[in-house]
Amino acid sequence: VTFLVHTLKSSISVFSSDLANMDFLTYIILGLTALLVYFWMKLLNINRHWEKHGIPGPKPLPFFGNMLPILLGSKSAGEILKEIYQSYPNEKVVGYYHFIQPRLLIRDRAIMERILVKDYHSFSSRLGEADVENDPLNSNLFNMHSEVWRAFRSLMTPMFTPEKLKNMYPLMDSVGDDFIQLLKESKDPVDLLQNVNTFTIQVISSTALGIDAGPMDQKSNEFRERAINYAPTGVKTFLKFGAIFLAPKLAQKFGINFTSKETTNYFSDAFKTVVNHRKSGDVVRNDLVQQMITIQQNKSVEIGSTQVQITDDVVAGQALFLLFAGFVTSPLALTYMIYDLAANPEVQEKARDEVRRVTEAVDGKWKINNGKISYETLKDMRYLEGIIKESLRMSPTHPMIVRRCTRTYPIPEVSYTVSEGENIMVSALGIHHDSNYYSNPSQFSPERWTGDDRPPSSCYLAWGIGPKMCIGMRFASLEFKSVLAKLLLNFKISLHHSVKAQLKPAPFGIFTAPAHKILINFEKL
Ligand code: HEM
Repeated sequence: VTFLVHTLKSSISVFSSDLANMDFLTYIILGLTALLVYFWMKLLNINRHWEKHGIPGPKPLPFFGNMLPILLGSKSAGEILKEIYQSYPNEKVVGYYHFIQPRLLIRDRAIMERILVKDYHSFSSRLGEADVENDPLNSNLFNMHSEVWRAFRSLMTPMFTPEKLKNMYPLMDSVGDDFIQLLKESKDPVDLLQNVNTFTIQVISSTALGIDAGPMDQKSNEFRERAINYAPTGVKTFLKFGAIFLAPKLAQKFGINFTSKETTNYFSDAFKTVVNHRKSGDVVRNDLVQQMITIQQNKSVEIGSTQVQITDDVVAGQALFLLFAGFVTSPLALTYMIYDLAANPEVQEKARDEVRRVTEAVDGKWKINNGKISYETLKDMRYLEGIIKESLRMSPTHPMIVRRCTRTYPIPEVSYTVSEGENIMVSALGIHHDSNYYSNPSQFSPERWTGDDRPPSSCYLAWGIGPKMCIGMRFASLEFKSVLAKLLLNFKISLHHSVKAQLKPAPFGIFTAPAHKILINFEKL
């Protein structure tokens, strides 16, 4: 403002003699020019942030920073970060610009481990700001931080114990059978993501909401359509994410959320109807709703010195995020896994051999056993586990991990102190393709997870690491293992000739998503 006033004043004094002759329009043009000059200087100044701190990094453009390729549709944010990670092999940290926001990319393993694990208290926030009291439906573990997050995390962790998952498994298993049936009745080639969406939506709605999303072969299904559009990929969502990331408090004031109000209300009403039905009736299912009801029996949760009431909306807010994860991230991950099986026929054969061997040894002939695979049997499928891990290494659904600093934090190795509110990034995609940690990183090799010489665990970031890592990891892994085993027993999977060997990720996505349709042949065995 000072600069603006100063610029205006100086313009006025320079042209003072002509002032009397100037009309209103001229003043407006002058003012706008001054404003433009001011913002231009400000942008140039922002772009000197890392230079001033002696942190190396790629040269930014005014306003676009290092993110122009996203707007040009040529690269996703995840790919840009990977490229920056790979361009500075000898640096511990790199400074770059996410449009007008300077961000620090952590390359060094020890610093990363400190930030994500040991000193996570200083980085307990991600993006967005949960307001549990005023906006409970949009408050969830992902956007909670500090004590609020800690309290809810410890309430929800018991929902995903191995015992609880074992109880949920029959629901997943039965959805898997329907999925196999759907594929058997479909004509090749199959649109992979579209079909996988049908499966993952059914799994999470059955296990989290306790409701049936409708027959899988139903062409028009409101529940499914809303779930697919829960967080659509595209420019609009990209801008929303950007707003929440750059100015979370402002975004909250203007009601900008990851999902639309209408969709949020649709799913929260569906969830509340099920909860009320359960509370009043004698239906008991081994699903997440039941566990949410148990959480609500606590009535309130202690956060610092205050008690937060666990209302229907507070519970629904948490449930909605579980749905979001199930609707959005799981189908993408499973799509890449099936693609990887199709693109690597030898891996597929080896996996099929394992699944046949293990199921026949434990459950008897799977065909005689109606194709049923028990929960215990899945545990012995180590190679299949390796495939899931490897697919998420090659194409992590979350290509980057983000933390917002919640307490000033010095990084002595690089003589830089992170201020409160600053965003710190870790490139999962970059680390997963770093030959210091993974030999032949561009090769799809599930064997790297089955031998003795495994990659360092802190360099595997598909689920995050530390106290804020994915709470649904075991749930999602079980879902993937169960359905992949069924697919391997029932089909030979191959790529349709139209599919490229290298999948291009969609540029506007926050998650790793294929830019184009993937067609797959499922040949019945
Ligand atoms: C392929 C599937 C999935 C992948 C790859 C995935 C990955 C991740 C990652 C990378 C994070 C952030 C970790 C960090 O910041 O350090 C995360 C957080 C989270 N995920 Fe998942 N996730 C998946 C599925 C699920 C599912 C199915 C659920 C729930 C049923 C779930 C629930 C959550 C929650 C609640 C958080 C926030 C945890 C917290 O801050 O306490 N995720 N997930």
